[in-house]
Amino acid sequence: MRATVFGGVCICVAAAIAAACSGNDGAQGPPGPAGEAGATGATGATGPAGEAGPQGPQGTPGIGFDGGDAKGSTAGNPLCVGLSDHACIGLSAAQGNGVNLKLTGLSLPQLEQIGEGAYIVSTQAICTDCHSPAPDPQHYLAGGLSIPIPVGPGVTWTIVSRNLTPDPATGMKDTLDQFINAERNGTDTLNSNEELIFHPWQNHRWMSTSDLTAIYQFLKVIPAINNPYPQDSKSGAPPGVTFPGVYNEGAVTRPLPPEVDMFDASVPDPGFILRGTAIDPLGVTPPTDPALAAQFGRGSYIVNAVVGCSACHSSPDRSPMPPYSVSTSTFLSGGTVIAAGVYAPQVRVVRVTTANLIGAQHGFFNEPGMSFATFLTTITEGIHADEMNEAGVAPPLAFPMPWQEFRNMGLDDLEALYTYLSTLAHSPQATTVNDVVQQPAARYCTSSSDCFPGESCNSGDSGTATNECYGGPCSTDADCGTCQTCSAGSCALPDPSTSVCLQHALQF
Ligand code: HEC
Ligand code: HEC
Repeated sequence: MRATVFGGVCICVAAAIAAACSGNDGAQGPPGPAGEAGATGATGATGPAGEAGPQGPQGTPGIGFDGGDAKGSTAGNPLCVGLSDHACIGLSAAQGNGVNLKLTGLSLPQLEQIGEGAYIVSTQAICTDCHSPAPDPQHYLAGGLSIPIPVGPGVTWTIVSRNLTPDPATGMKDTLDQFINAERNGTDTLNSNEELIFHPWQNHRWMSTSDLTAIYQFLKVIPAINNPYPQDSKSGAPPGVTFPGVYNEGAVTRPLPPEVDMFDASVPDPGFILRGTAIDPLGVTPPTDPALAAQFGRGSYIVNAVVGCSACHSSPDRSPMPPYSVSTSTFLSGGTVIAAGVYAPQVRVVRVTTANLIGAQHGFFNEPGMSFATFLTTITEGIHADEMNEAGVAPPLAFPMPWQEFRNMGLDDLEALYTYLSTLAHSPQATTVNDVVQQPAARYCTSSSDCFPGESCNSGDSGTATNECYGGPCSTDADCGTCQTCSAGSCALPDPSTSVCLQHALQF
């Protein structure tokens, strides 16, 4: 089994913790009060939620790893003098999370590079979701999350996320070259020399050398945390895949833009727009308008190299064997079912299906009346801005969609994401496989008062309790919670012995 098949699971584990600590419950209400770590909670205070409609219940106490409003804290931040907007957001996000960076004595170009790395780590690449074992500064990128990976009948590997801090004993020991090689080739050089199993190198390998360097330099100035973690338990993994030097994992093979010229001088590619254009797996023709074409390239870079939206939003994401080509026929049409397991009470979700983003008919970016404003509200407020639930409000975006991180991206990057994804959705290559209206999350409950009027809660101690709301009115399955079925006009619970949806759910 390929790691990326499980790509969402680890994210789920940590995002569950993060979400629970950043007021996920109270998506309509103000972020929770400062977490125990004192200073850290402060960033949560200016969250954008609550403007639309009546105020909901207050969230659980926030620490703000993901819930912080980095942009709110950039105005007048003395750290930002002379820096780009992205670097400013990155440094402010770290600062707001209570992560004290070692910045004294650094030059402006060094600060700019570290800020750019901080921006990628804090707003796009969700490194903390897998590498921070708890959402507080004392555990920032300190590793140690164990991820069970079923690889065959009765065989489960355990992969442990690494300590990325500069702690000499337990932290990251890679040189810059080793780090870049690990990201590009997926080979765990300092350990088994086998492939990195869970770490998203298949996406990161397409990042520019300068962005990878920026991430590395950022990791050198975060606080050192002594956190020994157990070895992976696995055997017989293949080595990684040698970096091909051209983009060859999608529909068409394309050269990557050169990073240096024949004299070894660097060739600029601002925003890595050319690189992003080269790594669009579907080979879609960019818009003719130059400004939109630039957004298309930047958006593709973020989606395909930095974040890896497809690890969650494609089912399947890649072929299961090397070289792990992108499954272009299912690209970003959603359909991955994730069960929240023990995290359900915290995230108030029992099961969720990832959203169909670019499906030719039912993709989010093909919805009638879709606009940048709707996308922006969706990401920045963490709500389904295009819908209304039985209570007359836009439902919260369910776990584990990492909107608490994405909301801090610069407006330019959010625009780039919109342009790229809507161009794909309107292209002849837009996905037709999995192009369905997807089921909303199955909501968690302990009693029917947690559900909408007319619904029941499958609670109790009968061993069959799943603690999900059901029984609401429906005309098709798409009106019911993930894996439920519409039967005689009302939503019925899935049958554990026959439900294919339940059997396919990523469990943890
Ligand atoms: C989906 C979860 C996940 C995300 C997201 C993630 N990692 Fe990892 N990473 C892991 C796991 C698990 C390992 C352990 C090795 C493996 O995967 O086999 C790892 C290993 C590593 C290694 C060890 C390789 C080496 O050369 O020493 C580094 C460095 C690393 N990650 C850095 C990062 C950085 C930086 C980010 C964000 C830009 C990131 N990771 C994002 C899960 C993740
Ligand atoms: C860790 C898994 C994960 C990652 C990574 C992820 N998403 Fe999501 N996303 C989800 C899930 C699950 C949902 C469904 C939430 C729900 O139903 O409430 C979702 C929902 C969405 C929606 C809302 C769609 C709607 O119908 O309202 C948008 C838009 C979206 N994601 C865009 C993105 C983009 C763009 C990226 C990459 C930059 C991304 N997601 C990365 C899991 C993920």
